[in-house]
Amino acid sequence: MPVLRSQIAIDSFKRVNPKLSSGIDRSASMLAERDEGVDAAPVDAELLRVLIIDDSEDDAFLVLRELRRGGFQIASERVVDAATLRAALAHKSWHIIICDYALPRLNALAALRLVQHLALDVPFLVVSGRVGEDAAAEVMRAGAQDFLLKDELSRLTPAVHRELRETRMRRQSRAASQQARDANAQVHALSTRMLEIQEAERRLIATELHDDIGQALTALKFHIDAARRKLGTPNLPAMLDEAARIAEQTLTKLRDISLALRPAQLDDLGLVATLRWHADRQATATGTDIKFFADAGLGRLDSGLETACFRVAQEALTNIAKHAKANQVSIELIVEGDALLLAIRDDGVGFDTEAALRLAASGASLGLVSMRERATLAGGELSIESASGHGTHIQARFPLRPLI
Ligand SMILES: Nc1ncnc2c1ncn2[C@@H]1O[C@H](COP(=O)(O)OP(=O)(O)OP(=O)(O)O)[C@@H](O)[C@H]1O
Ligand SMILES: [Mg+2]
Repeated sequence: MPVLRSQIAIDSFKRVNPKLSSGIDRSASMLAERDEGVDAAPVDAELLRVLIIDDSEDDAFLVLRELRRGGFQIASERVVDAATLRAALAHKSWHIIICDYALPRLNALAALRLVQHLALDVPFLVVSGRVGEDAAAEVMRAGAQDFLLKDELSRLTPAVHRELRETRMRRQSRAASQQARDANAQVHALSTRMLEIQEAERRLIATELHDDIGQALTALKFHIDAARRKLGTPNLPAMLDEAARIAEQTLTKLRDISLALRPAQLDDLGLVATLRWHADRQATATGTDIKFFADAGLGRLDSGLETACFRVAQEALTNIAKHAKANQVSIELIVEGDALLLAIRDDGVGFDTEAALRLAASGASLGLVSMRERATLAGGELSIESASGHGTHIQARFPLRPLI
């Protein structure tokens, strides 16, 4: 743009150092040496990484000296054309970019487009000799954060402070939005998985009811009908015996199904008895040695707490049966101060807890997440320690509230 160029203060051009066109000028230390007289009071422990796009070494020096006067400690590089700018943007991250309006081989608009093209969130300030208002407005419209004249460099430090602050706020708000999106996605994945599990359970219950209870009741009806037809015949006792046997089996099956859904003992007899019963049942079913210990004085607890604690133990024992290949398992239920501690240890294969929790949080499984959720909802916390080949130790701590 020749018109704009002609308006640029000539002195930004006349000090062009031909050596600079060869590439990035790592001039931080050199500039620092030239700047000894300035008392730089750092405002931040971190160095301000400034990328200067300027063909004039002297102008860059003035810009950096102004920033040091403003209290910044600086690491800077100076580039002079698109190639060196691209290289500098690729090899380092920058806090701020300060660009001259026009250089022999680049101008502020092109440099700004390049930064925007790379989607870098780095404030872009144009510090220029005098150019027309239109040119300044055009650069601002294109997305530069500020336009300063080289003869009003006193505005530079406040502008940099402001842009750093705004960049920080932009990043914080982006991070917060990202966190909210992640949390939403997790909740969504969890709810979807919950619904899938619920469906699977319903399907299982429907199948069990149809295949076992339904068929048993059909057979029962058949035997009763046949017995009615044969009233007074010698076959009757055998038929009634068969009907009674089927009724007995059906009752056992019903009991199993309802126990699997929610053990009635939990409401009737409480946590300790139910957990002991469940541990015995599991030991018999899996052939694992399961030891159960509960503090002698542990009586009935708040019903929500009993349910939460039982469900955590139930999932931990199910996981042991499914994954651990354990020989020995211990369950402890003890009171420690104002808290109830549930500790479940196995000597099985162990697992990488962080990887499993990450997978679980993405919705791949539900057990670990629901154990933690149960503990948290009851006001407590859950810890899982495990290592490959060294078994697993799950501990849940629940606050004890007096029974109301
Ligand atoms: N006691 C254990 N021993 C060894 N591996 C375990 C144990 N507990 C959990 N794991 C590992 O952690 C993973 C996650 O457990 P989680 O209970 O969340 O899922 P799951 O049991 O696979 O499925 P579900 O959603 O039905 O519970 C398991 O797939 C398993 O690899
Ligand atoms: Mg599980």
